[in-house]
Amino acid sequence: MKKLPPRVLLSSYQPWATMDRDAQEEALNSLYFKHKGIYFDARNTSPEVIDDIEHMEIRDDDVFLVTYPKSGTIWTQQILSLIFNEGHRNGTEQVETIERVPWIEYNVMNMDFKSRPSPRLFSSHLPYYLMPRGLKYRMGKILYVCRNPKDVMVSYYHFIRMIPYLKYTIDWETLFEVFLSGRVTGGSWFDHVRGWYTHKEDFNILIVTYEEMKKDLRSAVKKICKFMGVNLDEKAIDTVVERATFKNMKHDPLANYESIPSDLLDKTKGHFLRKGTVGDWKSIMTVAQSEKVDEIYKEKMGDLPINFLSDLNEENAS
Ligand code: A3P
Repeated sequence: MKKLPPRVLLSSYQPWATMDRDAQEEALNSLYFKHKGIYFDARNTSPEVIDDIEHMEIRDDDVFLVTYPKSGTIWTQQILSLIFNEGHRNGTEQVETIERVPWIEYNVMNMDFKSRPSPRLFSSHLPYYLMPRGLKYRMGKILYVCRNPKDVMVSYYHFIRMIPYLKYTIDWETLFEVFLSGRVTGGSWFDHVRGWYTHKEDFNILIVTYEEMKKDLRSAVKKICKFMGVNLDEKAIDTVVERATFKNMKHDPLANYESIPSDLLDKTKGHFLRKGTVGDWKSIMTVAQSEKVDEIYKEKMGDLPINFLSDLNEENAS
């Protein structure tokens, strides 16, 4: 893997609304770079790192957790780690999630992936077409977790306020527009989810939604175990479920990402484990904004047979 670029810091803490278009453009450019059709976090990766990933050697028992940001990644990292590591379940191993299920495109700890013992667990926010080539020959396993776009957007809004150089700059209205334009880490939510969904036949993949995990975590854990070919007894499943609840993860220092350095995330402004619910978008999104998302969703995703619940009572309500 190539060396990462130096971190870019914005010196200005101006409120977004008071910046002219050029200044806004410059601010976005210093945070993100566009590479092969998608935006990346300029602080933690580079085009060379992304390009190298295509050639990453894949083992048959590799597992890749892939998500669009804010879709329940650290939740599922914890679940995968618990499923695969007895030492995690019984508490004899004290390893942080980021080390157990490292990011391939944001290898901030500069890990040597080749020396990791099998089965290797990895995380990624990459679109399907930038993943290691071997996966496209149906080697390894991919768990793709997706979440309804309205909650993703609201989660993103709260998250972005934790980025030190952005503090007090982006208001909700701006984030709403920036998000819909895809000018955020991960690019367009619609392109990401659509891309993975429509190319699922090319990979050995299981697609799970955040909402189904929320509705019935135990069933979701069992489904993931079955796909991974891991046989856990009922007691072990209980442990996985118990340690992956929002309440328990929030207070688990190995799972809650609170050790991320403050130059990357200002934890006085929020937490990775924020609310962990379905439907929080209603707390901030206007009716007009919600209708706009519905319209874009219909246009871009309407033909796909995926059902995202944006409220856990929806099924009962209909
Ligand atoms: P909210 O901001 O809506 O609370 P990611 O890990 O992809 O960045 O996603 C973060 C989102 O997943 C946050 O959503 C966070 O609270 C939620 N999350 C993390 N762990 C969770 C858990 N155990 N149960 C439910 N939601 C969880």
